[in-house]
Amino acid sequence: MVRHFLDFEGYTAEEILRIVDMAIEFKRKGYPDTKPLSGKCILLIFEKPSTRTRVSFHVAITRLGGDSIPISTGEMQLSRGEALSDTARVLSAYVDAIIARVYKHETLSEMARYSSVPIINALSDRFHPCQALADIMTIKEIKGELSDVKVAYVGDGNNVCNSLIQACSLLGVRISVASPREYRPSEAVIAQAREWVKRSGGSIELTESPEGAVRDADVVYTDVFVSMGQEEERERRLKVFYPGYKVTERLMSLAKPDAIFMHCLPAHRGEEVDASVIDGERSVVWQQAANRLHTEAALLLYLLRDGGKI
Ligand code: CP
Ligand code: NVA
Repeated sequence: MVRHFLDFEGYTAEEILRIVDMAIEFKRKGYPDTKPLSGKCILLIFEKPSTRTRVSFHVAITRLGGDSIPISTGEMQLSRGEALSDTARVLSAYVDAIIARVYKHETLSEMARYSSVPIINALSDRFHPCQALADIMTIKEIKGELSDVKVAYVGDGNNVCNSLIQACSLLGVRISVASPREYRPSEAVIAQAREWVKRSGGSIELTESPEGAVRDADVVYTDVFVSMGQEEERERRLKVFYPGYKVTERLMSLAKPDAIFMHCLPAHRGEEVDASVIDGERSVVWQQAANRLHTEAALLLYLLRDGGKI
């Protein structure tokens, strides 16, 4: 049965750690000379902009010896009304995996229903699991033992937040989320995380207080207040988030003295984070962004080789 990667559901902690450890190995020792994706072609579909995801996947595929085709949905017959189910069926006859960034998560679920090759979520309105893989790798590299770590996420309970909650609760990382009541993470994700932490030994806490969330935190994480597709809500959102949920030096000073700052990027300096924080000594955002390359290579290899296809 083909395995997709739309979110962390259906994956075990051991599998995710295997992917993360493979990524750490790639970073340390380089990519295999055997070119394990040689002869494979992977399609990258984008409904919305991307810098990191698009380029890091392309480079990861190249390093592993495969080919990739980037395409925007505007260039496809989808934009003229071709059914998603027909598109997914046809494309999966040509390529070995489909990586897609979409507005609605349901688009990915439907593609997955009709595709005979893995569908990988390159960001949807609900999840950004590829980002969370690089986040976990970065935390592991810097902090070591994941079960000792507390992550504080401050801001919008969005796609990045939902995936971070899933990854943390699966792997036994304690997570505290501070968001305004109306912008909390998905209730389904919270309920699932409450179940997952029973097994993993992690914990999940929700609060409206950024100060409360960052207490004793090893990691302070934020993302934009206005995600792609929410541009019309900008004014309303800023009223709710700004400045209370901005990560400032003062907020960082309430976390552990060696706490790191993380952001998936792109960032808006002065909005969700002060420039002095993201450009400061405790920021690991460049390492975090660089790690996308390695986790994406490891994910592809896991799904295409270890997952059964090669
Ligand atoms: N963090 C992230 O996914 O960046 P891009 O939108 O540039 O791909
Ligand atoms: N939450 C952001 C993440 C961008 C990588 C968005 O969806 O636009």
